[in-house]
Amino acid sequence: MIERSEPPLQFVSRLTSDHIEQLWRMYQGEWWSGGRKIEDVRRVVQHSDLIFAFCDSETGRLAAFARVLTDFVYKAFIFDVIVDRQHRELGLGKMLLDAITSHPALLFVEHIELYCRDEMVPFYQKWGFTAELRSARLMRKVQEPLFKLASVATKAS
Ligand SMILES: CC(C)(COP(=O)(O)OP(=O)(O)OC[C@H]1O[C@@H](n2cnc3c(N)ncnc32)[C@H](O)[C@@H]1OP(=O)(O)O)[C@@H](O)C(=O)NCCC(=O)NCCS
Repeated sequence: MIERSEPPLQFVSRLTSDHIEQLWRMYQGEWWSGGRKIEDVRRVVQHSDLIFAFCDSETGRLAAFARVLTDFVYKAFIFDVIVDRQHRELGLGKMLLDAITSHPALLFVEHIELYCRDEMVPFYQKWGFTAELRSARLMRKVQEPLFKLASVATKAS
């Protein structure tokens, strides 16, 4: 358990059903994840390789969350770094990044990557992340997930 002047926090690598609901609420407040559906969030958590979370030990509530997708050799990609609004600027974001960058399974990985807005670059630079990727560019194909199309078709029929 991590003792601080604030309520003590507990690190967890698995989320309960209640935590997932709290994560879903946290997602609603962020620019990239507002509108995510609770059933999709359950699948996201289930299919992520590593979960990093801190909970308030007194209430059990989720205070901070991040997740990683990785092949455990070449690449690990960090997603959804979020500290609950009430717990920001207390060092929890630092605790998340410390936990990720020191995780034993990720010490063997060549690249730890993430994407973020320009204003977050100084935050991640503290852990050695760089935005200088030479000629590499992030590319994305936007598509309507088949799962959603299938449920629309089911409703229509
Ligand atoms: C970004 C976020 C995770 C930071 O968490 P936090 O708990 O408030 O941050 P911490 O208190 O651990 O701060 C650690 C250090 O980072 C700095 N920092 C915090 N937010 C920062 C920001 N947005 N930009 C630059 N530095 C920042 C702090 O000043 C502190 O620096 P210090 O160690 O020199 O004192 C949190 O504000 C958050 O959840 N924001 C909304 C979601 C989001 O934007 N996530 C990032 C997606 S890429």
